[in-house]
Amino acid sequence: MSTLLPTIIQGGMGAGVSDWRLAKAVSHFGQLGVVSGTALDQIFARRLQDGDPGGHMRRGLDHFPFPKMGERIWRTFYIPGGKQASKSYKTLPMHAPDGPREMQELCIVANFVEVFLAREGHSNPVGINYLEKIQIPHLPSLYGAMLAGVGYVLMGAGIPLKIPGALDCLAAHARATYPLHVTGAHEGDDTLLTFLPAEFMECDVPALSRPQFLAIVSSNVLAATIVKRANGQVNGFVVEGPTAGGHNAPPRGKLQLDAAGDAIYGERDRVDLDKLRELGLPFWLAGGYGTAEKLREALAAGAAGIQVGTAFAFCAESGFRSDYKKAILQKIISGQARVATNSSASPTNFPFKVVQLEETLSENEVYLARPRICDLGFLREAYRAADGAVGFRCSAEPVTVYVSKGGDVENTQGKRCLCNALMATIGQPQVRNGKFTEHGLVTSGNDLTALGRFLPSNGEPTYTARDVLMELSSSNA
Ligand SMILES: Cc1cc2nc3c(=O)[nH]c(=O)nc-3n(C[C@H](O)[C@H](O)[C@H](O)COP(=O)(O)O)c2cc1C
Repeated sequence: MSTLLPTIIQGGMGAGVSDWRLAKAVSHFGQLGVVSGTALDQIFARRLQDGDPGGHMRRGLDHFPFPKMGERIWRTFYIPGGKQASKSYKTLPMHAPDGPREMQELCIVANFVEVFLAREGHSNPVGINYLEKIQIPHLPSLYGAMLAGVGYVLMGAGIPLKIPGALDCLAAHARATYPLHVTGAHEGDDTLLTFLPAEFMECDVPALSRPQFLAIVSSNVLAATIVKRANGQVNGFVVEGPTAGGHNAPPRGKLQLDAAGDAIYGERDRVDLDKLRELGLPFWLAGGYGTAEKLREALAAGAAGIQVGTAFAFCAESGFRSDYKKAILQKIISGQARVATNSSASPTNFPFKVVQLEETLSENEVYLARPRICDLGFLREAYRAADGAVGFRCSAEPVTVYVSKGGDVENTQGKRCLCNALMATIGQPQVRNGKFTEHGLVTSGNDLTALGRFLPSNGEPTYTARDVLMELSSSNA
């Protein structure tokens, strides 16, 4: 495996937007392809219920080192020819601190297969991206990705102080732990998540290689904190600014909005690159860096390179539904593409970038017509219930339920069920009672409106990951 640092990291894009096909294409061309690890358990189970088109999941499973576990999952979910469009996908149990074991197995297998497929056919490293906030699946997911030889783990949307140490343990197949954040927890409450690989291994496996760990941060202060307090080695940083796609770090200080409702970022949000360089670790700049000129600028500032998301999100290999991709690329061509930062849409309470698109939750009527249902539960917040037990709530679940769990009613306003919407956005919408089909929600960075630079002159609304890489490296030879 190459030990050279990549100049271009294709940013992890969840859920399922940077899937194995995109990461494989990018890594094949010698840069770092990153699969999204978010919700891979659900995505994998739904791919099997869709009949595993192309047989890729089966091929990955055939290389999984614990065949009995793989077969259990195959038998549970695989539907030859795929489920009928009007039928629902299976509802799976939600993640909980003590399992259930079937979900832990699904995480191990799904993360293995995604990384295995992204690594197939070339010898360059592949990375995996997780959101720190989605904590319960971390340990089994990391273990599955490491069984497949993942080269880099990238994590943002939180402060991943305990991931480096967990990687060290998992590489040795040793017991790994991760502290679950529980709102209102008392000192002495046991909130530690534990994962023991031996409980899942069906045979001996040699020690695994420990992936490089890159923390995704929005400030040099956070980077310094992570270096100082992490329980193991941090190998570098991705520094992401507020124009990036997906979730953004909120501005420091009191939230102020401009006329369009976008959060205003100020001087305090500026990253001090001098201070960052002093940490002595490689870093990549992200958020509007998807041009050859910005790459040069990043290298001149001492960065190892750039991380790019939006430019890859709309290329042919990405996991976005092709009808959404086409419609948005056509809007770009006609100058009508719009993206805005929505400060209330995400149950994480982080600002979230939303692309305006008909028939998606970007439209208020579509949002209001959706019955509030929480049945995937990745973004639920763990909280300490009155009896001391750990409960879970999501500000996008039915309002009365959320409030009955001690949630603040104001926090429910405008909240979108990102879990269901993002699954719909990659072509895996849940269908309810044969009638209601979940709508998608597309996220992208502000770079969206400039993606015309990758489109061919024949007017076709399509381009490839290779086109992006060629353009980025064009004048840097
Ligand atoms: C569709 C989409 C989904 C994203 N999802 C994630 C994610 O799950 N985790 C993450 O760390 N970053 C996510 N990002 C951010 C990218 O990894 C990357 O840092 C960012 O897009 C870079 O800025 P750019 O969009 O201006 O190129 C996402 C970006 C996009 C466009």
